[in-house]
Amino acid sequence: MKKILVTRKPPKYLLEHLKEEFEVEVWNSEEQKIPQEVLFQYIDQVDGILCLLTDQITKELIDKGKKLKVISNLAVGYNNIDLDAATSNGIIVTNTPGVLTETTADLTFALLLATARRLIEASNELRMGNWKTWAPMMLAGRDVHGSTLGIIGLGDIGAAVARRAKGFGMKVIYHNRTPKPELEKEIDINYSSQEFLLRNSDFVCILTPLTAETQNLISLDELKMMKETAVLINTSRGGIVNENDLVTALSTGMIWGAGLDVYEEEPLPTDHPLLSLRNVTTLPHIGSASVQTRLKMWDLAALNLTYALQGKEPPSAVNEIGDK
Ligand code: GLV
Repeated sequence: MKKILVTRKPPKYLLEHLKEEFEVEVWNSEEQKIPQEVLFQYIDQVDGILCLLTDQITKELIDKGKKLKVISNLAVGYNNIDLDAATSNGIIVTNTPGVLTETTADLTFALLLATARRLIEASNELRMGNWKTWAPMMLAGRDVHGSTLGIIGLGDIGAAVARRAKGFGMKVIYHNRTPKPELEKEIDINYSSQEFLLRNSDFVCILTPLTAETQNLISLDELKMMKETAVLINTSRGGIVNENDLVTALSTGMIWGAGLDVYEEEPLPTDHPLLSLRNVTTLPHIGSASVQTRLKMWDLAALNLTYALQGKEPPSAVNEIGDK
C-alpha cells in the first residue's frame, strides 16, 4: 500500500475513503499547522502529500522526499510549493481551481462592498455605543454603482468578479498578461495597460497569482498613480502588494481605503500597522471559506492525489512531468 501524509484534519468521510486506498498519516488538527520538523520527519516515508497553503514545501523538503510522487495542495494558489524543485524531481504538483471560483468571487465582491461602505467600521461603532444620532456625513463611504473597477489578473476568479461588478452597474477594465478578447465581448469589459487601470479605477482589485514577477507589483509608484478616492482590494496573495508602501498610502491619504484578505505574513500580527488604520477592512484569508466549497476543495485535492498515485492524470496538475 502506498503511504500518504495529510497535513491537516480532513473530513471524516474523506479520511475513511483515503484509508481504503492508502496507508494514511494525518496531522490531526483543524486549527494548528503541522510543524516544519514533522513534515521533514515524514517526507522520506511517503508517496504523496496532501498539504495546505500554510505548509512551506521547500526545495530542501522536496529533495528529501525520495519516494514522493505527488504534492496535492488544498488551494488554487501554490506559491507555498517550490514548483521548480518538484518538477525537476519528477513530482506532480496539483491545486484546486474551479471549485472555488464563485465562492472567492463572492468574498472579493463582499469585501469591496464592505470597504466602500465601511460596513465593519460602522458595525463596530454601533456596538461601541458611538451611534448618537443620524448625521449627514456619518460613516459616509464611496459609491460602488457607476464607478470603475480595475481588475489586475483576469483568470477565472477575475472574470467571476467582473460579472458581479457588471450587475452592480460598474464599468470594468482589466489588465492581464494575455488579453482575453472573448471575455471582453461576453462580459462587456475592456483591456487596459496597468498604468491606465491604476490611474482611472475607483476600485483596483488584485486577482493575479503570487510569482517572482508579481511580487511587490503594487508598490509606492503604483499607489501614487491611483486616485486619492480609490480603494485597493486584495484577495489573492500578500506580497503582491507591498504592505509598508500600502500603510504609507493609506495613512497619508494617497488612496482612500483598502480591503485585504491576504498578507505578507499570515496570520497578520496583531500589532501590525495596518490594524491601526481606520480605512482598511481586514479579513483572515477566508476567500474560499464556504462549507460547500471547502468540502469540494478537499474532494478535489484527494482526487488529484489518488489519481497521481494510481498513475492516472490528475484533474488539475500544474506541472508536466515527462516519463522517467
Ligand atoms: C486560497 O487562498 C487558495 O489559493 O485557494
